[in-house]
Amino acid sequence: MKFFVLTFVFCAWFTHATTISVTSPDKRIVFSLTDENTLAQYTIDYKKERLVRHSKLGFTFEKAYPWYRDFEVTEVSRKSIDQTWEQPWGAKRFVRDHHNELVVRFTNTQQKDIQFDVRVRVFNDGVGFRYEYNGTDALNITRELTEFWFADSHKANAYWIPGQMRERYEYLYRSTPMQQVEGVVHTPFTVVYENGTHVAVHEAALLDFAGMSLEKAQLGRFNANLAPRSDGLAVVKQGAWTSPWRTYTIGDSAPDLANSYLTLNLNEPNALGDDLSWIEPGKYIGIWWCMHIDVCTWGSGEKHGATTERSLAYMDFAAKYGFDGVLIEGWNEGWDGDWIANSELFDFTQPYPDFDIKKVAQYGLDKGVRLIGHHETSGGITNYETQWNNAFPYYEALGVRQIKTGYVAHGQNLKRKDEKGIMRYEFTDSQHVVNHMTRNIQKAAKHKISINKHEAVKQTGLHRTYPNWIATESARGQEYNAGWSTPNPPEHEPMLIFTRMLAGPMDYTPGIFDFDFVRTGGGTEEDGLHKYRRPHSTLAKQLAQYVVFYSPIQMAADIPENYLEKPEAFQFILDVPTDWEDSIVLQGDVADFAVTARKEKQHRQFSGKDWYLAGVTDENERTVTVSLDFLDKGQRYEAQIYRDAKETDWGENPYAIVIENKTVLATDALTIRMAESGGFAVRFKAL
Ligand code: NOJ
Ligand code: CA
Repeated sequence: MKFFVLTFVFCAWFTHATTISVTSPDKRIVFSLTDENTLAQYTIDYKKERLVRHSKLGFTFEKAYPWYRDFEVTEVSRKSIDQTWEQPWGAKRFVRDHHNELVVRFTNTQQKDIQFDVRVRVFNDGVGFRYEYNGTDALNITRELTEFWFADSHKANAYWIPGQMRERYEYLYRSTPMQQVEGVVHTPFTVVYENGTHVAVHEAALLDFAGMSLEKAQLGRFNANLAPRSDGLAVVKQGAWTSPWRTYTIGDSAPDLANSYLTLNLNEPNALGDDLSWIEPGKYIGIWWCMHIDVCTWGSGEKHGATTERSLAYMDFAAKYGFDGVLIEGWNEGWDGDWIANSELFDFTQPYPDFDIKKVAQYGLDKGVRLIGHHETSGGITNYETQWNNAFPYYEALGVRQIKTGYVAHGQNLKRKDEKGIMRYEFTDSQHVVNHMTRNIQKAAKHKISINKHEAVKQTGLHRTYPNWIATESARGQEYNAGWSTPNPPEHEPMLIFTRMLAGPMDYTPGIFDFDFVRTGGGTEEDGLHKYRRPHSTLAKQLAQYVVFYSPIQMAADIPENYLEKPEAFQFILDVPTDWEDSIVLQGDVADFAVTARKEKQHRQFSGKDWYLAGVTDENERTVTVSLDFLDKGQRYEAQIYRDAKETDWGENPYAIVIENKTVLATDALTIRMAESGGFAVRFKAL
């Protein structure tokens, strides 16, 4: 590890503007801080061209002097780091953290005790900077003044979803010229320039703060917009604090963005101690899709999904086919009636009478399969939190190691009782809810439980610090293809890979094998609507999702009988691991296509020798040629290929699939055609 520190103190006679720069180790990125016109500002240059124009820094506070005008640079320190750290699970086992750091102190020219630091880290693949306050004042933040002012915005396209809206992060991404971005948009916010420069703005280590969105100020210029709390403030702080990192991932292609580990590198190391053996990546099935396609229900009654009988059958299926867990939703009291509106009724220790949870959990354990717990809160933050002291030990005693949580509530409607017992209504990414999410993870860790959060605050790399934050949904997942909504369009997969998934693992729930369900309200054979309200995907594309989407936990989301109908294709799901030694996004364009290779990590039944490769395309058919030079040199592999057939058509004939084997070496290449909204998946089995 290289490490050195240099500190300069600027003298008071300093009157003209000071500009201080720090470059990436490869010198391609230059980040500069300046106090020109007494305003704290930054710029970013990439490959000798301006990428981010003079963008202001600062905050306004409820009752304190704003960090805005009349600031000058008074102190600078630098440091360089080059270290490699190991992930307990991940898309890649060893991550290199190579960056140059600059810390600049801005001091008010009139009142010298008003100061803040900006810490910058510049990597070869981007930049992170954050604010640090070392004082003792109580600072109630009303606005963050950070600007993101893209140069040449008329030459860029942007990929975005709206922020702070009714459906949280569950929107279809829009692709527009950057100048046509509207209103408040979430991060990751992905930008592609005509000259091939790719940029994604996001944040890292969102702790005790409000989630940041970007708000359009003028063409190409965005302001940080912090999700407001119910009291109208953005963030309430007492004494010293640091903001989350504001980040720009920068590269020359869409794969460059997806191959970046900048967000993780900006988070603190594992805080959960040395023994992480209780955190279990793996594959699972669930009593889940049957609710979404309306074959069964979460609530009690004749169609109740979580019955003892069905649960035991799912345990049998999981054991027979080597799945690690069975998720069971709708197991507890609170689902009857309008569950989205009845958050206060959820009881996290009271199973429905027709669900013998002890029997089911033990039956699974005896066969090597764990029950995966479910805590749907429908946004009842306090109702949930006040039950934790019972709810976590309850599941822990049953051998549960993973809980899926849910926060289905619209817009600013997460319910929190304040100190006086008055109900307050919060956004998903407001400071209170951000803190709830962190507490939830910390509390779960005490019970050796990992959390898979749905409708949660966006990911900001905190799974490095808390590796039991095993996955997150927080985007439109497969559930939208179940007939109860407009399905995800063919471009959704290659869109998510280069937008939402830049933030971290997504529990997308891949692997739908039957598209011909007829759901109440989802259209009928007669009106033809059922053909529209189903996955806009080929079967091969469903398999590809297990590789192109990274998550340490992957669901085989369909109901078991549908897998038994297509045993040859099912084999890929049985083979594919979820924990990787290495991953490389090889090819791709945002919203068009992606091709990814991953090497399995040696663990449990996985030898660590096999590689996997998969691709997905949007509404366009596409043929890709992939050099296999990622494979281990000299090793022969049996390539087990699952691809679209000539006649495959996602609307008329989605199930047609070619499964074929070839012997290959690293010196070979594969040329594979993907049908419209199709894909392919390959297992390279070491011979
Ligand atoms: C939304 C989640 O994304 C979904 O997976 C879950 O089944 C429902 N909420 C009910 O909790
Ligand atoms: Ca959801």
